[in-house]
Amino acid sequence: MSIRTICCIGAGYVGGPTMAVIADRCPGIQVTVVDLNQARIDAWNDPDLSKLPVYEPGLDAVVGRCRGRNLHFSTAVEPAIAAADMVFLSVNTPTKTKGVGAGQASDLRWIEASARQVAACAQGHTIVVEKSTLPVRTAETVQAILSAAQGNGTGSGQPKTFAVLSNPEFLAEGTAVSDLENPDRVLIGGDDEGAIEALAEVYGHWVPEQRILRTNLWSSELSKLTANAFLAQRISSINSISALCEATGADVQEVAKAIGFDSRIGHKFLKPGPGFGGSCFQKDILNLVYLCSHYGLHEVADYWQSVVNLNGWQQSRIARLVVQRLFGTVTGKTIAIFGFAFKADTNDTRESPAISICADLLDEGARLTIYDPKVNESQIAGDLATGASKPDSKDQLLTEGSWSKVASIEEAVKNADAIIVLTEWQCFKDLDWQHIAGNMRRPAWVFDARSVIDAQAANTAGLSVWSVGKGTQQNIS
Ligand code: NAD
Ligand code: UGA
Repeated sequence: MSIRTICCIGAGYVGGPTMAVIADRCPGIQVTVVDLNQARIDAWNDPDLSKLPVYEPGLDAVVGRCRGRNLHFSTAVEPAIAAADMVFLSVNTPTKTKGVGAGQASDLRWIEASARQVAACAQGHTIVVEKSTLPVRTAETVQAILSAAQGNGTGSGQPKTFAVLSNPEFLAEGTAVSDLENPDRVLIGGDDEGAIEALAEVYGHWVPEQRILRTNLWSSELSKLTANAFLAQRISSINSISALCEATGADVQEVAKAIGFDSRIGHKFLKPGPGFGGSCFQKDILNLVYLCSHYGLHEVADYWQSVVNLNGWQQSRIARLVVQRLFGTVTGKTIAIFGFAFKADTNDTRESPAISICADLLDEGARLTIYDPKVNESQIAGDLATGASKPDSKDQLLTEGSWSKVASIEEAVKNADAIIVLTEWQCFKDLDWQHIAGNMRRPAWVFDARSVIDAQAANTAGLSVWSVGKGTQQNIS
């Protein structure tokens, strides 16, 4: 079966970019991305490509080439499913906040709802592809829902039939387009040979055959959780060593370089920082922990839980350390926050370490001036669960914590007592430290949680500098 029409349910960070690249590479396939969120679909259809709802380098060009040709964004879910040979489920699967498994298990309500929509609206034979990250054996649920509708006559006169595949996505935000265009691998899990080959043929338009892996459904679902768990574990490992470096006088950059030269370890994913953020690492590990506990594998569950625990500890130790260095109090002090996104080159702030670090400093009464080149004010207000505010008292020592989103680095540092670099945006790497220091209140600090600034230049300009993972002799004050 050759695929001619694709519907993707969910126009988010995965659905939008993934379908844009499929449409770009497969001009003969009509691709429709549907979502219930009208504002999101409107933004995908905005004639001004700088207003797409997802910021990813290169995405505007891809969407610009295909939109209206063979790439469509719509809220009309039912007709798009009915017309599709293949339906991708790319909906959100966040951690459950209440009920059974709260705080660990994935909330599958959106997956179930979209599977039911497919069951109701599909015509003839439809291949259903799990693109969302899902707990092992979710395909069973999807299959059960689809089976209940199977065999019913459809408008096309053909009986409804379904095949279910797992095809997890491995793109990272900020590099989504290049990850999709040149993936390390594409993973297809399933037991229906025809369906597997139909999906492999779609990817075969641009992905070399040897990079298209075929497994059973459960291996595919579990490989996705495992890949994220291994990646996150490397970050917690290097962050744990960053704290030890600070205590002992070693330099974590040198340690990372030295161990990375071991080809069995490798250089990637060894950057220390304020802890991993993003919508998936924590969610997927917690899901793994839940699965392990469910199967009575409590030691395995504890092992993976510790990766998440270390991550939370790294975030809170950085907030504590800032307070300590600023003479034990930040009440009424202005602190410039450089970067709010969870990593550079994205406007996504989900689980960003900036959220908990800023919240801790607000609790301590700090005045935060937040600068991020891509994150907007309403996003920050949602994350900090409070609107931007002016200090509420003329006496700055009686003031409650407050924050404002500012439009430039210059505005952020005006009269600031400290700067905290939380996202590794390019614009923070090459700053005029003499100029910045001249605008701050002395004594002033820079806390570089990403180790990206020119620490020597900042120190020469009269600022005390703390960089993550640099031993005390090297943190310059
Ligand atoms: P997202 O929240 O950005 O997008 C999901 C979209 O699905 C939302 O716009 C929502 O409105 C829509 N939706 C939910 N139910 C719907 C329904 N019944 N009908 C139509 N639309 C519906 O999420 P995301 O970041 O794109 O992640 C999607 C999945 O992909 C998750 O399972 C995630 O774990 C996985 N994933 C994400 C990334 C990433 O980098 N963000 C990478 C790999 C895998
Ligand atoms: C991650 C994985 O890299 C993707 O393969 C996966 O598809 C995706 O999760 C997902 O399932 O959602 P993403 O979260 O977008 O991608 O970005 P990463 O580059 O993995 O970064 C995650 C977090 O770890 C960021 O906060 C980043 O700053 C941090 N990080 C990353 C470090 O602190 N150090 C590093 O060396 C690498």
